[in-house]
Amino acid sequence: MNTTPKWFVAAAIGLTTAIALAGCSAATPAANSGSGKTPSGAITVYNAQHEELTQAWADEFTKKTGVTVTLRNGDDPELGNQLVQEGSASPADVFLTENSPAMSLVDNAQLFSPVDAATLAQVPEAYRPSSGRWTGIAARSTVLAYNPSLVSESQLPSSLLDLADASWKGRWAASPSGADFQAIVSAMLALKGEKATSSWLASMKENFTAYKGNSTVMKAVNAGQIPAGVIYHYYWFGDRAGTGENSNNTKLHYFKNQDPGAFVSTSGGGVLKTAKNPVAAQAFLKFITGKAGQDILQTGGSFEYPVASDVAADKALLPLVDLNAPVLDPSKLDSRKVTDLMTQAGLL
Ligand SMILES: [Fe+2]
Repeated sequence: MNTTPKWFVAAAIGLTTAIALAGCSAATPAANSGSGKTPSGAITVYNAQHEELTQAWADEFTKKTGVTVTLRNGDDPELGNQLVQEGSASPADVFLTENSPAMSLVDNAQLFSPVDAATLAQVPEAYRPSSGRWTGIAARSTVLAYNPSLVSESQLPSSLLDLADASWKGRWAASPSGADFQAIVSAMLALKGEKATSSWLASMKENFTAYKGNSTVMKAVNAGQIPAGVIYHYYWFGDRAGTGENSNNTKLHYFKNQDPGAFVSTSGGGVLKTAKNPVAAQAFLKFITGKAGQDILQTGGSFEYPVASDVAADKALLPLVDLNAPVLDPSKLDSRKVTDLMTQAGLL
């Protein structure tokens, strides 16, 4: 590619503006939700984010407000589909995800209430849909974990698309049943279109080995069972910060260059239209995207990226801006189409 597409320039300008705006607005946090009412009582959160992270957010929020938070834990598609099925009968006040496609699923069913303006003002435009019906709460980067004894630095692919080459046959792994990997495919679909994506998926089927879960992929790479695996960055950093036993023999490769493999996935949060306690639900979302909530991302050992209130990432991480991620509208990622294409390719 020898020219920068116009949409990218436009999006990049939008991003700069958004960062500038967020810089201003983050200086005026309010104590209560946008409704001006003090939160009280209890809320139920359908939580598809990592349980430990959301529990840390919930504990801190309860300490500050006295609001009791009950978590119902599951994964993105499971809880997203459950919300769609339950419709107005759902007991959920808030939905939190790991990746944005599940937010779109619920949003397309028109189940979200608009997020309070004061909350949206804390989050740069690049990390939330323009509809304002949900917001980004955290972000995670796609990486290739590799075993340097099985693949040299010079052999590393410059694009995620290169893993379709015959030279990678039997040499890479992923967890195709997980929402994390499916979000990466949704980014490829948005960036490269349906034809290129289905042909890549067909080659993936030929070349890759399936494992269940990103940690299992990383363990297999570490054990030398397979040279490389596509995962999200925080599994690796989490292991490095602990015993390191599942990552000692691995390194991370970042694709950068706005490659589909440099996809940064936006984790989402939204308040259900049918929330029994909308005041506390909105306040919880405001807390998560506020400084105290984002600080938990910086220091709490989840190693996910803060996206709001000008909070920087944990020092161990490559700064978000250095990832050179492709610019995508998180609300445009299509999980249904992705599962169709992956099913057609025999991956699901
Ligand atoms: Fe995850």
